[in-house]
Amino acid sequence: MNFQFGVDYYPEHWPEERWETDVRLMAEMGLKVVRLAEFAWNKLEPAQGRFDFTWLDRALAVFDRHGLKAVLGTPSAAPPAWLIAAHPDILPVDSEGRTRGFGGRHHDCQSNPTYREHVARIVGAMAMHYGKDPRVVGWQTDNELGNSHEDTCHCRHCKTAFQIWLKEKYGDITDLNRAWGTVFWSQTYDSFTQVPTPALTLTAHSPSLLLDWKRFHSDLIVDFQQKEIDLLRAGTTCQFITHNFMGYFDLIDYFKLATPLDFVSHDQYPWGFWDVPPGKNPGLLASTLDLMAGLKGQAFWIMEQQAGPTGWQILARTPRPGQLALWAAQSIARGADTVVFFRWRSCTVGTEQYWHGILPHNGVPGRRYEELKALIAALAPVMPRFEGALSGAEVAIVHSYEQNWAFEIQPHHPELDYVKFAQEVHAAFFEKNVPADFVSDRADLGRYKLVVAPLVFLDLPGVSDHLKSYVKAGGHLILTVRTGVKDTANVCLAENALPGPYGELLGIEILDYDCLRGVTVPVTLGQISGQGRLWWDVVTLKGARILASGTGTDHTGEPAATAHTSGKGVAMYWATVPDQDLMAVLIDRALVDAGIESLGTSAPGVELARRRSAEGDFLFMLNHTSEARSQEPGQGWIALVGGTSLAPFGFSVFFKPVQEGKV
Ligand code: GAL
Ligand code: ZN
Repeated sequence: MNFQFGVDYYPEHWPEERWETDVRLMAEMGLKVVRLAEFAWNKLEPAQGRFDFTWLDRALAVFDRHGLKAVLGTPSAAPPAWLIAAHPDILPVDSEGRTRGFGGRHHDCQSNPTYREHVARIVGAMAMHYGKDPRVVGWQTDNELGNSHEDTCHCRHCKTAFQIWLKEKYGDITDLNRAWGTVFWSQTYDSFTQVPTPALTLTAHSPSLLLDWKRFHSDLIVDFQQKEIDLLRAGTTCQFITHNFMGYFDLIDYFKLATPLDFVSHDQYPWGFWDVPPGKNPGLLASTLDLMAGLKGQAFWIMEQQAGPTGWQILARTPRPGQLALWAAQSIARGADTVVFFRWRSCTVGTEQYWHGILPHNGVPGRRYEELKALIAALAPVMPRFEGALSGAEVAIVHSYEQNWAFEIQPHHPELDYVKFAQEVHAAFFEKNVPADFVSDRADLGRYKLVVAPLVFLDLPGVSDHLKSYVKAGGHLILTVRTGVKDTANVCLAENALPGPYGELLGIEILDYDCLRGVTVPVTLGQISGQGRLWWDVVTLKGARILASGTGTDHTGEPAATAHTSGKGVAMYWATVPDQDLMAVLIDRALVDAGIESLGTSAPGVELARRRSAEGDFLFMLNHTSEARSQEPGQGWIALVGGTSLAPFGFSVFFKPVQEGKV
């Protein structure tokens, strides 16, 4: 169910006399869907058990009259003051034992039974009232789950919930003691009730406790969402359920959060307030979108696409003319089937007065309205042709939340960051205009010719066998430093030398390593040179061949990258973290060996992205620079939107039908 373009609207923020004008302007712009109500708990239930849907009914009637459908957010992110006043126990407790007060949003503990009860009541009532309403096409659970909960919750309910989770996982406390190695520093527990949450201590907690805590916290939020989903599914017919994800946010295993949803939605803010100006670069934005597509291996929605200057107390720069439209086009190029802009009109009240909407504060359509209206006129007619289609990538990058958590707990090198490494790998493909998917470590890899699995640190159940069979069957696999180091409890493997279960596959052994603090190691690969960063494994060859080696003072002649033929495939190893130059050549070689072609060479700052449907290929050419660019799509392409001359921040779309005899 797709609508191409929509907007986030807060009827409760504006006088009712204005609604008609707003919705008429939306319809004239080509918007077809609106998201409503995700923070409107108090307006929907002004006092316990006293529901008021009348205002929302009236708003829906206005939308209906103008042909816009609605997605309703469950308002659990904004528990009202009356609820907190009656049950202050709902407030979350941070790792320093401080109760965080009412104000802002999500001032709640997701284990708290009272909060859960009240959430169930409001969600149930909404599902009952709107579950069969044809004007409502779908639901968004909560809003950006996990946002604001980074350092919470350590209340008594969470502590008990954590202990129960551990009991279910380990069964007996002696099994937990054995798995975690609590003999260290006399941390042996007699019962699950003695196990703490990782609250403030004098020295660091056990890495095993910390990893299980992160798993528990993720499961807690997944479970919290599941309860809402159950209520919605029970009360609705034919309405979809989605959630607005936050790209690389890492508190929740997003693969698990996505599983029960009909599709993923994502909030895309290229110049959000948390970035150093001028915000995220195009490659990073592209990788975020690719990760969102990877969560279910499915096209997705953007539930909040930046629509103006952003910021709360401090503002980011104002997007240049054309840039908002370009960013929305990029989301579509990388798998969004519907793009909903955040927000309709810049708010005059509250925390987000400067997080601008399509309309300025005075409500008069201006530059942004015209820019996005033109975008919709250009793209909405062609979008149904590639609905559901993704890039058809032959490259996959494995992404694992558990591996990331293990590196957050022990980064080894202060700059070794799991997510950053994945982004650098993605960037190497992006620079070459080679589509690359993100996949989970259990995903079916059969359709990929090349898989990069950075930092497979923990030996999680089934993963090494999975990767081995991929190679045996003919796949090309790249593994990196810190692979096969620990077991699933975050305890070092000691049965074999590093890289543990991957030694035979890779044809190497590692008996020594070096954390590259304050140094890099020059590396050569034929005529090309680059640098090894952050980490260096001293590799002994056990059948593998050398692809690149170290030069310079330390680690001269030692392998920096190796390859080993195994079954019908090849397993490569990066014994250091390659800098951009070195990674570019290593990836180039791997692409050639695996027989993967790029979408073409592009002018500087021009992104190429493809959506491959049954009908044929749709090629997006996106100019991320403030200068005009000329870009040829190659042979056989038909222009659908724009052409080969790209205006500053301009884009075009080309189409090539499926060739006879080729699938
Ligand atoms: C998102 C959130 C919105 C709004 C927006 C701007 O993270 O979902 O509700 O807060 O950011 O700050
Ligand atoms: Zn709690």
